[in-house]
Amino acid sequence: MSENKQLDFTVNGAAVAVSAPPSMRLSELLREKLGLRATKVGCNAGDCGACTVLLDGRPACACLVPAGQLTGRSVETVEGLRGPDGLLTRLQASFLAHGAAQCGICTPGMLMAAVALLQENPAPSQAETEEGLGGVLCRCTGYTKIIAAVMAAANPLPEPPTAETGAAVGAALQRLDGQAKVDGSEQFGADDWPDGSLLVRAIRSPYFHAGFTFGDLQAWQADHRFIEAIITADDIAGENAFGVIPPFADQPALAENTARFRGEAVALLVGEAEQLAMLDLDSFPISWHEQPVMLTPAEAQDGNAPLLHAGRADNLLVTGRVKHGDLEAGFAAAAQKASLTICTSYVEHAPIEPEAGVAWMDKDVLVIKTCTQAPVMDQEDTAKLLGLALEKVRIIPAATGGGFGTKLDVSLQPLLGLAVLKTGKPCRMVYSRQESMTSTTKRHPANMTATLAADGQGKLTAMAFEGRFNTGAYASWGPTVATRVPIHASGPYRVPHYLAQAHAV
Ligand code: FES
Ligand code: FES
Repeated sequence: MSENKQLDFTVNGAAVAVSAPPSMRLSELLREKLGLRATKVGCNAGDCGACTVLLDGRPACACLVPAGQLTGRSVETVEGLRGPDGLLTRLQASFLAHGAAQCGICTPGMLMAAVALLQENPAPSQAETEEGLGGVLCRCTGYTKIIAAVMAAANPLPEPPTAETGAAVGAALQRLDGQAKVDGSEQFGADDWPDGSLLVRAIRSPYFHAGFTFGDLQAWQADHRFIEAIITADDIAGENAFGVIPPFADQPALAENTARFRGEAVALLVGEAEQLAMLDLDSFPISWHEQPVMLTPAEAQDGNAPLLHAGRADNLLVTGRVKHGDLEAGFAAAAQKASLTICTSYVEHAPIEPEAGVAWMDKDVLVIKTCTQAPVMDQEDTAKLLGLALEKVRIIPAATGGGFGTKLDVSLQPLLGLAVLKTGKPCRMVYSRQESMTSTTKRHPANMTATLAADGQGKLTAMAFEGRFNTGAYASWGPTVATRVPIHASGPYRVPHYLAQAHAV
């Protein structure tokens, strides 16, 4: 870590003097040192634009601006543009009227890019608007509403839409939680924490499948005095297995002896935020022992593959099946047959907001505030894992900056709980984009073959469907996928002779 340097610049028109490492990102400096958390961080790599601010009046990704370059410069954030009559006010009203802020995590960056655009070109064309906003990604809206909102903001304030009694169906309604999203005051998982909160970081497997042994953790901790606790699976008091379908729950919060996917957490470090954030985790004492890798259902079921979980023969989690009629008779009577095989790939949900949260003790209740799509499932799994009664765990959903299904699964909730229980202090955790992509669940890649038969009039007589789904290292939604696919495989058609099977591998 570089030495601190005195930095003098202006933020939202006010002079700022702050001491920070010259290599610190402007986004981090704004959020951590100045408390200006309307500037969001999605990727820390200049790709998503969520951190867009104005630097000397021009849009810039704050995650790519090192603090050492700030002296004498002017920074503007969404917070500084609040006010009754400003351009931002018009933009905010227009975003609300057009439904241009959905989850809202991209909105501060989008607004800053729009301010820069409209200051230079007060009445941009659609192409100019698209160009002006092109550096900021939105995963929710499809952009159309945002572009319309920015173009409309060139005009006087739009009338707020109203829904008359009896005319509500079809009326455009303003989001009840819209104002906070368009003025940057909405609090997402990484935006709010008690003073003195410790930071939590995870040590993760760099291998797809590997055993591991820890070195001298005490000696390593003694060399890193800002670390208050190192947590391993040995610290887990409850059942170290979570999963959205309880009978199949098999995923440890921290792996025990073996990591089953690249990115799996095996230990936690809890410590003073600024120093821990800068720590190079490569120095952590752990030895890895690579084991055979199975990356596809075919490899996992080739007859020689080791079992990833004891008791799951052939690495099969579950098969879903729907059967009706007599398939052979249906095919025998058919005039035509057609067959098709389709392969699909992993799909990363990629919400702009990576998983993030904070936790603390409220008397004897563990409180976890986090972005989530499923607070009750989080509560159940976290309590079970930590060995706590259900009523001793409270989940407060923060605003969620996109989820698209990936935040239905537990991620950092039990990790935060472990950290608080071990240290007795409030703790916070934010996944990096890389952690989010490697450690959370994805849409299953699938290999599906369907054969359909029809009579001479073109009416379907029979259908056979066979699907094999790569469920990954742990069950997650695998049972749901395997049992739902055979139900949906025939679409809306009535097929008298039908056999559909889906295997979660
Ligand atoms: Fe800065 Fe994504 S571009 S956080
Ligand atoms: Fe843009 Fe959700 S509203 S990412």
